[in-house]
Amino acid sequence: MLAQKRILLIIGGGIAAYKSLDLIRKLRERGASVTPVLTKAATEFVTPMSVSALAASKVYQELFDLTDEAEMGHIELSRAADLIVVAPATADLMAKAVAGHANDLASTLLLATDTEILYAPSMNVRMWEHAATQRNVAQLKRDGAALVGPNEGDMACGEFGPGRMSEPLEIVAAIEAKLSDGPLAGRRVLVTSGPTHEPIDPVRYIANRSSGAQGTAIAAALASLGAEVVFVTGPADVPPPDGVHVVKVQSAREMLEAVESSLPVDAAVFAAAVADWRVSNTSSSKMKKGAQGLPELNFVENPDILASVSGHAMRPNLVVGFAAETDDVVENATAKRKRKGCDWIVANDVSPETGIMGGDENAVVLISDRGAETWPRMGKTEVAARLAQNIASAIAD
Ligand code: CTP
Repeated sequence: MLAQKRILLIIGGGIAAYKSLDLIRKLRERGASVTPVLTKAATEFVTPMSVSALAASKVYQELFDLTDEAEMGHIELSRAADLIVVAPATADLMAKAVAGHANDLASTLLLATDTEILYAPSMNVRMWEHAATQRNVAQLKRDGAALVGPNEGDMACGEFGPGRMSEPLEIVAAIEAKLSDGPLAGRRVLVTSGPTHEPIDPVRYIANRSSGAQGTAIAAALASLGAEVVFVTGPADVPPPDGVHVVKVQSAREMLEAVESSLPVDAAVFAAAVADWRVSNTSSSKMKKGAQGLPELNFVENPDILASVSGHAMRPNLVVGFAAETDDVVENATAKRKRKGCDWIVANDVSPETGIMGGDENAVVLISDRGAETWPRMGKTEVAARLAQNIASAIAD
């Protein structure tokens, strides 16, 4: 998918620089050529030799290297690329780009270019959350740059939180989305998928039979049309597709939080089978059989993620919900579309005799303000492809 694409990869000085070696491999496997640039600090984390070997290219490091200037000036170096990727993008490198500094090769390239730039930030959580970094990130976005990540997780410094650089495959997905010429190129789409698990105690939970197959197929279909896909998934049976940004959650409340922090997006598809209720009297230790008799579970309603996003201040232009029904499919789904405030509802009959829940096929009715359109029974992959095409027609210019 990246055949003939030329990536200028600026590697900043952060511990995540080791992941950039894998990024180079993955880009080249997909047919891209990679021209690497190392900052001085980056050479403390990876050697020019290993970067050069993996990229099969000269590594550029110094601004005032006359041979380089003779071979390819910094202006040319940055303009010859289809995309500039900064990974890891340190707080310092981003601050320099915002301020327009040009005192080393990396910052000069960022200033001298009119090519699009994708930053993959990587830093300690406190540095990421600092007002200065957040201000710089907002400014970079205003200046037209794109960001992938950072992710949340354990950090090399022993802390936990946002700041981890995205995984190489996630960066590849963001690059593919940027360079795609599909109808959804440059569009960001959110997909929720899978079941949610609502805890009872540390070892038990309430779940449902959703496999995540339909949501996964939709995310893959949207990505193949060039969209940048944020895939928020509960604990599904099927693995997430390649080429999307994956956010794993367990409960409905975690899913809502992940969804809200992914906004803004151009379109959102809510394929997850979210548990309607959760246990309000969860136990922090394992419930035991015994003298107290049978446990009594009390329930409270979970937040409705689809309805929240439909009424959100950052509402996507197109909001697509699903309706899993066992009776009066069209009537119930039409009422659901109104109630939840979404644009489309993909309704399906999940009665056990249809074999749809957990199966490979689906028979859907697409409900919009134009009425109900019944699709023939087909594979979940075909449903996904057709839905992705419809989404592309609705939101592409
Ligand atoms: N949904 C959601 N958050 C919830 C419940 C559902 O985002 N807490 C979304 C689902 O992802 C789906 C749509 O709402 O896109 C409809 O889900 P469905 O289970 O069919 O509807 P419910 O709201 O659960 O209504 P009911 O159970 O009464 O049919």
